[in-house]
Amino acid sequence: MSVVDVLLGLQWGDEGKGKIVDHLAHDYQVIARFQGGPNAGHTLYHNGVKIVLHHIPSGVFHPHIVNFIGHGVVIDAGTLKNEILKIDGTDVDVRPKLFIAKKAHLILPTHKMLDSAKEQAKGKDKIGSTLRGIGPTYTDKASRCGLRVGDVLRSDFEERYQAAKARHLKQIANIIAVDQLDFDLEAEEARWRDGIETLCQLQLVDGEYFLHQRLEAGQKVLAEGAQGTMLDIDLGTYPFVTSSNTIAAGSCNGLGISPRYIDRVYGVTKAYCTRVGNGPFPTNLDNEEGEAIRQAGGEFGATTGRPRDCGWIDLPALKYAVMVNGVTDLVMTKVDILSGFESVKACVAYSWNGDRTEELPYDLCMQGIEPIYQSFPGWGDNLNSYANLDVLPDTLSNYIDFLENYLKVKISILSVGPNRDELILAANEAVA
Ligand code: GDP
Ligand code: IMO
Ligand code: MG
Repeated sequence: MSVVDVLLGLQWGDEGKGKIVDHLAHDYQVIARFQGGPNAGHTLYHNGVKIVLHHIPSGVFHPHIVNFIGHGVVIDAGTLKNEILKIDGTDVDVRPKLFIAKKAHLILPTHKMLDSAKEQAKGKDKIGSTLRGIGPTYTDKASRCGLRVGDVLRSDFEERYQAAKARHLKQIANIIAVDQLDFDLEAEEARWRDGIETLCQLQLVDGEYFLHQRLEAGQKVLAEGAQGTMLDIDLGTYPFVTSSNTIAAGSCNGLGISPRYIDRVYGVTKAYCTRVGNGPFPTNLDNEEGEAIRQAGGEFGATTGRPRDCGWIDLPALKYAVMVNGVTDLVMTKVDILSGFESVKACVAYSWNGDRTEELPYDLCMQGIEPIYQSFPGWGDNLNSYANLDVLPDTLSNYIDFLENYLKVKISILSVGPNRDELILAANEAVA
């Protein structure tokens, strides 16, 4: 049966999507990234070695998988080249299994420079971007003046590049004096040109046909999201968001598939909440508790190394994310990190202007939105020894019952450590 399942983040990114895609990959023939770019950092462990992927889908270490980068993704050729070189250092030969949609847009060095200029000019209102050029590249796409992967094959590519560069440099000069920017354009250009050379040797395809041929042949596709629902350009905490549609519907746009193919939607959430970059985060714990979660969870960005803000799980936000994505299967990661806590909390509603609400307000940035918490006894246990979801410690079982009741969706996977096999599955799916 032709099926596309989607896996995406339900919070502010870094929910552990990469690890879960790696686990689910055995059931699919194709894994397809549908949006975002090298702002993403998806962490996997292969043969005990940590690998962080930025563009390449997270099933890459399974020999049977076809890896597809859809046209909804924006690509930094220099970063992609480095990623391929990193994988070359393992037992996997990624090139024959990697396919890239020609309609994907290219991140140019001056897109990254523009990103820095815009952020610097915003001062205290900055988004906290990863400065990977994501916003300016999607802006050019929407303005209908971007360069696409397929353009690298045209004889006038250099001319087009020079025209885009000149346009960007003018834009930058209007924002900030170039000597105030800490950006080495020459070095970035050299790195990028090197990447473009590699890109030209990869398999560049008409992505829509590429995927449909596989679907018609009965293959199963897993669409891998980047970032998280609360960073979605339309539905996230605007303007503190990324520049693409991170939600399930984004997989149709970003891959060129009809919604009628979509079956399961895996929504990944941490057992708590983190956010990196600026913007509202109601349950943020700017105190010792937050620091304890950060240290226990190693909450530092996989792409930029920045410390992530940490706080308790935010259920109104999660319920909203479940709703807008149509989540069929909930995956909760980093449950082990809360094992050291005597009690854990969940935000079950917000109070705002004296009212209690379980709905996300129009603008989470508004003053006076306060989380209302409920406490639960902790599970203080080594969770690796539990065979399946039916035999968990009572405290954890009760907590999960509460979450499932609140969110009206079942948890099908608990992740209890960074390694591939550190999972607790439903009894019928658990491997002995
Ligand atoms: P992604 O962007 O959603 O793929 O997530 P990241 O890779 O940015 O961040 C998740 C981090 O948590 C990585 O360092 C993972 O290795 C790690 N991780 C994933 N799941 C678990 C888990 O269940 N427990 C622990 N302790 N670490 C985990
Ligand atoms: P993965 O896929 C966490 C955040 C940035 C910033 C905002 C906009 O690893 O979960 P951008 O670079 O897109 O202009 O940044 O979005 N951000 C992420 N936070 N995980 C990510 O990806 C992120 N990608 C972008 O920190 O706040
Ligand atoms: Mg990440």
